[in-house]
Amino acid sequence: MSPLVVLVGTMGAGKTTVGRLVAEAVGADFLDTDHLVEERAGKPVAEIFVDDGEQTFRALERAAVADALVDHSGVLALGGGAVLDTETRRLLHGHRVIFLRVGLADAAQRVGLGVSRPLLLGNVRGRIKQLIDERTPVYESVAQHTVDTDGLSVDEVASRVRALVQDGGHD
Ligand code: S3P
Repeated sequence: MSPLVVLVGTMGAGKTTVGRLVAEAVGADFLDTDHLVEERAGKPVAEIFVDDGEQTFRALERAAVADALVDHSGVLALGGGAVLDTETRRLLHGHRVIFLRVGLADAAQRVGLGVSRPLLLGNVRGRIKQLIDERTPVYESVAQHTVDTDGLSVDEVASRVRALVQDGGHD
């Protein structure tokens, strides 16, 4: 089994919202690796960071992604930092990966105060900018397609993703 499509991108790119819409439109299941991690840990991501540390979260995330790439046949959204892991990047080879690109202004607006996102605490805009700058090349390296989400509604982004999926993955 292999996911229909894997969505990557920073926090605020709309992976979860768009992923759900695409899944619904094509009659597939949706899975978010953050959700899988939370289910397995029995607590929210923010609590895992506080109680157990980021390293523990990353290990849980690596395992969740590896399992989902084998067990999940629908739309899969990865947590924003999942692609930083070398093993995860290797496992993504051969999958249909779409990078949902978002600029600072739209991302900051979408995450609001970022209270459920431990990596943003303290300085939401500054942290998002740093994450976008650092990670964009990594997202680009694992993705076959990039969908620019700035200024688009979630429905518009979802229909672009859907077109790529139904097209069989050609740009
Ligand atoms: C993270 C993104 C979050 C979540 C965790 C760390 C990151 O997922 O996995 O807070 O490192 O960018 P979303 O991208 O779904 O918000």
